[in-house]
Amino acid sequence: MSRYAEVYASWQNDPEAFWAEVAKDISWYKLWDKVIDPYSGHYGRWFAGAECNTAYNCLDRHVEAGRGDQAALIYDSPVTGTKKTYTYSELTDEVATIAAVLTDLGVGKGDRVIIYMPMIAEAVIAMQACARIGAVHSVVFGGFAASELATRINDAKPVAVMAASCGIETARVIPYKPLLDKAIELSEHKPSACLILQRPQAEASMIAGRDHDWAEAVAKAKAEGRKSGCVPVAATDPLYILYTSGTTGAPKGVVRDNGGHMVALAWTMPNLYGIKPGEVFWAASDVGWVVGHSYICYAPLLHGATTVVYEGKPVGTPDAGAFWRMISEYKISALFTAPTAFRAIKKEDPKGELIDKYDMSSMRTLFLAGERADPETIKWAEDHLKVPVIDHWWQTETGWAVAGNPVGLGVLPVKYGSPTVPMPGYEVDVLDEKGHLLGANQNGTLAIKLPMPPGCLPTLWNNDERMRSSYLTDYAGYYSTSDAGYKDEDGYVYVMARTDDVINVAGHRLSTGQMEEVVAQHPDVAECAVIGVADQMKGQMPAGFIVLNAGVERDASEIESEVVKLVRNVIGPVAAFKNVMITKRLPKTRSGKILRGTMRAIADGESWKMPATIDDPAIMDEIIAVMQSRGLAEKAQQAG
Ligand code: COA
Ligand code: AMP
Repeated sequence: MSRYAEVYASWQNDPEAFWAEVAKDISWYKLWDKVIDPYSGHYGRWFAGAECNTAYNCLDRHVEAGRGDQAALIYDSPVTGTKKTYTYSELTDEVATIAAVLTDLGVGKGDRVIIYMPMIAEAVIAMQACARIGAVHSVVFGGFAASELATRINDAKPVAVMAASCGIETARVIPYKPLLDKAIELSEHKPSACLILQRPQAEASMIAGRDHDWAEAVAKAKAEGRKSGCVPVAATDPLYILYTSGTTGAPKGVVRDNGGHMVALAWTMPNLYGIKPGEVFWAASDVGWVVGHSYICYAPLLHGATTVVYEGKPVGTPDAGAFWRMISEYKISALFTAPTAFRAIKKEDPKGELIDKYDMSSMRTLFLAGERADPETIKWAEDHLKVPVIDHWWQTETGWAVAGNPVGLGVLPVKYGSPTVPMPGYEVDVLDEKGHLLGANQNGTLAIKLPMPPGCLPTLWNNDERMRSSYLTDYAGYYSTSDAGYKDEDGYVYVMARTDDVINVAGHRLSTGQMEEVVAQHPDVAECAVIGVADQMKGQMPAGFIVLNAGVERDASEIESEVVKLVRNVIGPVAAFKNVMITKRLPKTRSGKILRGTMRAIADGESWKMPATIDDPAIMDEIIAVMQSRGLAEKAQQAG
């Protein structure tokens, strides 16, 4: 029997008592005045008046409690042939040393630090070092281009940047430093210092006065015996900013606070993930995404477990057995990744034969998130791994699962296609366009009743107005998730689609509106539309449709490849923007709105209806012909 219903009810009965009890897992310098102060922030602030330090809770206190010799972080890099384990004592020392270096570079409490690093141990060390001195980190995923990095530098206004000279994508070395230099050149705000970790695969050239060598700075601080202590911060002070896509324009700087974040994550480790201190928990994501923040850098360490930093891919480093090798080598208890990683593995090793080569006895559970877990993938994983496969739903904004199947409380029956039930802290309602509550099995917008639980975003960086307009004004008293779906008669949540322009490509959240803005910059493009089309491996892939300016007579394939290159250069390779098609016209309503929804249905081969508001129905035939020339829309069927 699962204890879920009982625990959820205890939260509903007295949310403040529930979170105050969980907060006992955290060490506080000063306890809160109020568990939640309903009068501050957009929907109240958690643990107002309390003081704490996240890095202290992740590191020092475990050393003080006798865990110093236990493994805290395992770094495994098939792309460089490197493996290294840090004990809690070693990791604490490394973090305290880099924290001292940051202080030398002029970084203090509340200052922002951009981190632009691949999946190496130093990325986590950098994040923890910022937390230690009360600085606010903002990690930028390595697959973003220089101008995306520049946008984040301009918004966060960092005092310093911490970067590695390069990342490694399977066998390809990607020099990061030229991208960083270009970003700083593009941005109006100039950080005063850059701390650069030189990797032998691509040594970076350094700019005198601004750039500092990581290894030299660490060696000097160590020789001088300098380490930084943990700086008390308010529970409501920001721990980090993580930029995420959503609607056109600049990315949103999701803010995470210190106190509520720790409390929420501390609840999830034993209750949702069923992990005990001392066990190994592996989130095979990237520190550039929210999953990497919560479940590589913070939660496992808060809980006294061992975390894993894996610099490799599910396939190709060297093969589709890479995950199984990791699990057997490090006796990993739970793996957390995106369904796309499993689709990639299944494609290479459909019968799961590589699994049998490894001792998988340590593995108890597989957790999936980041995109809808398709039943086929779940079944394949269940059949081959013979462990529960748990889908759970969350967003950068929430920082932890809105809905999941709480393994630690006893697994609830799995229903394929559903991430199961709301976690304590979340009351999830399904609303129609007017904000009316919908009944079981009725599709609408999934909305979270305010206040949001600890750990969720208090606001967007420097943009309270955008916080309100993006999330809080659509439905009074609710946070709108921008996900559409329904709840069934047992209260299971189903997350079906986004209601905005966000698409999900290989578990990466991208904005088609942003891609359209970039495509429109090409001098030959008169207008364009970008939609997400279903992809067997990556879930969705962007597809661009462009109408050329009158009189342009250049070679079509040349223009198409320029547009592809433009998106890659401006947004980055992570956009996976490879498919662009020239069309004579775009289908629009009589009021001029591009019919992207219908285009997507056609491209995905769904049954579609000619919209009553369409300006010229003949354009649909043109678009279908263009799509079919690229292998899309093959099964498209017009209904009615
Ligand atoms: N630095 C630089 N480039 C990067 C990068 C990084 N950190 N991460 C990805 N890229 C590049 C890739 O090399 C690829 O470039 P290409 O177009 O030249 O081939 C491009 O960005 C698109 O990357 P991706 O969509 O990830 O495709 P992929 O073929 O490299 O890998 C998967 C596909 C499924 C193996 C990979 O996406 C994966 O492991 N996903 C796991 C899920 C995950 O991490 N989700 C995050 C949230 S949980
Ligand atoms: P991100 O902010 O990058 O974590 O992306 C969040 C978005 O990914 C959500 O709004 C959903 O659209 C989607 N998503 C994440 N997890 C799931 C899931 N388990 N099922 C369905 N969609 C999901």
